Amino acid sequence: MNSLLNQQSPKTDNLVSPYLPSAATVERVTKLTEKERLFTVTPLAAIGGLPVSFDPGQFFMCGLPGYGEAPFSVASMPVNSHINGSPKQSFDLCIRAVGNLSNAMHRIKKGDRVYLRGPFGRGFKTDELKGKDLLFIAGGIGIVPMRSFIKSVAGKDSYGKLTLICGAKTPEEILFQGEMDEWKDMGMDVRLTIDKRHPGWKGNVGVVTTLISSLKLKPDKTVAAIIGPPVMYKFVALALRKKLIKDASMLVSLERRMKCGFGKCGHCQINSSYVCQDGPVYRLTDLAGLPEAF
Ligand SMILES: Cc1cc2nc3c(=O)[nH]c(=O)nc-3n(C[C@H](O)[C@H](O)[C@H](O)COP(=O)(O)OP(=O)(O)OC[C@H]3O[C@@H](n4cnc5c(N)ncnc54)[C@H](O)[C@@H]3O)c2cc1C
Ligand code: FES
Repeated sequence: MNSLLNQQSPKTDNLVSPYLPSAATVERVTKLTEKERLFTVTPLAAIGGLPVSFDPGQFFMCGLPGYGEAPFSVASMPVNSHINGSPKQSFDLCIRAVGNLSNAMHRIKKGDRVYLRGPFGRGFKTDELKGKDLLFIAGGIGIVPMRSFIKSVAGKDSYGKLTLICGAKTPEEILFQGEMDEWKDMGMDVRLTIDKRHPGWKGNVGVVTTLISSLKLKPDKTVAAIIGPPVMYKFVALALRKKLIKDASMLVSLERRMKCGFGKCGHCQINSSYVCQDGPVYRLTDLAGLPEAF
């Protein structure tokens, strides 16, 4: 249904139950802010019986015994163990401490184990986007899956102009600022904004839409990826439409409470769509019949 998005099937067809978590070692814990930590994890063996392979925008269910599990987007460059033969490919998850599991995750240390299922869902199909100008619009923790997407395309000749608009409440809450300097060196136009004035901040103040009007976009060549709080989507879409970007060229990632991750329990359901399976990345046109989407 959606040519711009990854159409990878969930792993219900292999012999290992997709409910069965696989252990992974935490190789590194990096404190990004008071609320967010980056975990580099290495599966002990193939997750769910398959080599690790995912696309940006896909997610894993990550859990700890006694605390349950929750979906977390992959924050790092995609790996493909099908190609290099090793199931033990490290990747990053960035976790904001908001509740029971995520606070427990913030207490774990290098060498501890987490338990993973996945990858699940549809991500960004980067091959289909070759030749396009890519506009990344991230709000708050939306930069986490966006980092995976950006790392897959930055510095590659096969893509057109790359632009990142990233907003957060305060300067400290803009994640991966050091890496953004590297992305600028690779030719990306990086524009940052914070919600309200803050001592020492010399950049833009205002929501992400305040940075859209000054962009020079080629409507037929531009695809926008938008990830952030749901309230942002409606206003970003309006601002992009004024720039003549079509809804079919806007990709958004949705968040819903999830349990199974692969279309069985219905927790993530919006009308007829299961976000864990049809999303989390949708083309805006595919959400036209789903008014509850955001
Ligand atoms: C596809 C997907 C990808 C995600 N990627 C990330 C990620 O990369 N990093 C990250 O930190 N989080 C991510 N999340 C959100 C994460 O799964 C939830 O915050 C998770 O519930 C945290 O578990 P917890 O037990 O710590 O919090 P809980 O104890 O379950 O909840 C704590 C508080 O947060 C609220 N809450 C929890 N989840 C949500 C939600 N999805 N929407 C609105 N409110 C919610 C609860 O109502 C409660 O008030 C993602 C969610 C989805 C669906
Ligand atoms: S989380 Fe179970 S159907 Fe989506």
